[in-house]
Amino acid sequence: MESNKRGAFIVFEGCDRVGKSTQSNKLFKLLKDKDVAVKHINFPDRSTIIGDLINRFLKNTQDLSNEVIHLLFSANRWERVNSIQEDLLAGTTVICDRYAYSGVVYSVAKGLDMDWCWAPDRGLLKPDAVFYLKANPDQLASRCNFGTERYEKLELQRKVSELFDDFNERESSYWHQFDAFETEQELHSQISTIVEKLLPQVADKPLEKLT
Ligand code: TMP
Ligand code: MG
Repeated sequence: MESNKRGAFIVFEGCDRVGKSTQSNKLFKLLKDKDVAVKHINFPDRSTIIGDLINRFLKNTQDLSNEVIHLLFSANRWERVNSIQEDLLAGTTVICDRYAYSGVVYSVAKGLDMDWCWAPDRGLLKPDAVFYLKANPDQLASRCNFGTERYEKLELQRKVSELFDDFNERESSYWHQFDAFETEQELHSQISTIVEKLLPQVADKPLEKLT
């Protein structure tokens, strides 16, 4: 029997090396084990032609202007918008590492204008929940080695962190902040509790777009 309940669109955000992949993977496995239809994606999606260009930029083998890389990151999300929408409407929950918020904060941290940065992401699907893993970048740098990719520099991560904090305040109706230095299991349990409530809540809600 066809169900008309939709899945939830869940995004993880935060600085580099903060534990997003660990937590999103744990959530993905939990839902899968409970037989919830679920997919796990991440941005940048390095598997596409645009994603390959982004990858080369991040690995420092390709230089691009701030504006161009910004628009490529956004285009990389637009490449996936239809498939995300189809999945959600078919009842599949989509867990996504990084989204338009990363797009804006990294570019604004480099000096681009906020409104200019947000514009190309307008019209993308709006997440039902954003899980923001917050950590002090100075502590993060000592916990794990920054340095392999272009943006893994303390000075930039400090700005990125502040800009994520601003989003968290402005968008508090669907952002949830977590202390990234909690234990893996504690974080997972906090996140799971929210997701358990979220899935039935959004099942009959129409999808919204970023404005
Ligand atoms: P990753 O570490 O999650 O693979 O992301 C790679 C880097 O790309 C990370 O430093 C954040 C940055 N980024 C942007 O600058 N803009 C974006 O739109 C996205 C999705 C990521
Ligand atoms: Mg990274």
